[in-house]
Amino acid sequence: MKNVVIFGSTGSIGRATLDVIEFHSERFRVLGLAAHTQKDLLIKQIQKFGPRYVIFTSHNEKLPEIKGTVYLYKQEGLEFLATHPETDIVVMGIPGLAGLVSTLKALDTGKTIALATKEIVVCAGHLLGGKKGRILPVDSEHNAIFQIIDREKSSVSGIVLTASGGPFLNYNGDLSRVTVKQVLNHPVWKMGRRITVDSATLMNKGFELIEAFYLFGISKENISVVLHPQAIVHGFVKFSDGFVKAVLSIPDMRYSINYCLNYPERIYAGLPELDIQQMGTLTFQRVEPGMFQCFDLAMEALKLGGSYLTVLNAADEEAVRLFLEGQINFKDIPALIELAMEKHKPVSLENSDDILTLDKQVKKQVMAFFKRRYNLKIN
Ligand SMILES: NC(=O)c1ccc[n+]([C@@H]2O[C@H](COP(=O)([O-])OP(=O)(O)OC[C@H]3O[C@@H](n4cnc5c(N)ncnc54)[C@H](OP(=O)(O)O)[C@@H]3O)[C@@H](O)[C@H]2O)c1
Repeated sequence: MKNVVIFGSTGSIGRATLDVIEFHSERFRVLGLAAHTQKDLLIKQIQKFGPRYVIFTSHNEKLPEIKGTVYLYKQEGLEFLATHPETDIVVMGIPGLAGLVSTLKALDTGKTIALATKEIVVCAGHLLGGKKGRILPVDSEHNAIFQIIDREKSSVSGIVLTASGGPFLNYNGDLSRVTVKQVLNHPVWKMGRRITVDSATLMNKGFELIEAFYLFGISKENISVVLHPQAIVHGFVKFSDGFVKAVLSIPDMRYSINYCLNYPERIYAGLPELDIQQMGTLTFQRVEPGMFQCFDLAMEALKLGGSYLTVLNAADEEAVRLFLEGQINFKDIPALIELAMEKHKPVSLENSDDILTLDKQVKKQVMAFFKRRYNLKIN
């Protein structure tokens, strides 16, 4: 029996993880759950899975007393559970950097992290190496690549990540007029709000490229992205003798979550096998420069490296927040990120505090750019 803690249990990754655990109730025990605002759903999860520890990060209001459940709060709660002696696997599904410190602490303590939160790798990729613990990638593309190179590392000459292209692939209309509802209507994946916007701008794929660079130690020139709207092939690995291996599945995050939880075994989780005869035509297309501005900005940030990566993530998070609140239009997202990157003077990021400080500064700066752009009073 492995003890699992799920950070972001009420989100898309968290709920998918609980589905997998429910199927494998003889293999996994939920030791802890952490959520942010969705109190009612969290209470239902507590009643169903009976975790010993529950963290409710943003609210100081009390959750109802449930026998056998200990409530913890805020960052200290996350760190306590991430390093708890009985924790075997941490599933990290909190967007942004709220889970950064607990991820680093869990790795220092030797824990296995099933990591969905790519923002952590984007900003702190340089701090993740040489730890006692290990990262198993949940992101479907990285999980696919990991499945191949974990078993065959030598002679890898390159990797290719696939991108569905989001709702605006081949869109001919005016992107400055698209609505939040259109942007959130992803053709393939049902995910949290920020990652869905990032998928529409292709920033998500830019983040994934950076994530692949850090997770697999492959040179930047040998990582590429192809547009593949069917989202059946998740990743390719190229070998020096000309062979290419790929991993395919129905697009559903439960496949890669199940892989991470059971690693190194492969165990059936009630998920259907891909019906090859019904797969239809699979298409692959290059991502050309200029097609997706956010993707180009991410490539630029990867080239510049260092603190530019934290700037990229922080500016994107703030711009996406403003877009979701209806304060800016869709095309302002790359415009604000570009400004933040232009104004940035590189700094050294030695630890999580440095990263979190820069993250805050950049978000403040983006807010100031936004106010100037829309002629709002700056206070
Ligand atoms: N969804 C996917 O298919 C997918 C695929 C690959 C990678 N990822 C990555 O996985 C992460 C999670 O994505 P998601 O789609 O699951 O997001 P989501 O649906 O928005 O869920 C986010 C979860 O994190 C919790 N949370 C948010 N802010 C928090 C904070 N400050 N402190 C503690 N908990 C907080 C939320 O709690 P409440 O809901 O209670 O507020 C919720 O449980 C992201 O980094 C994303 O890029 C997601």
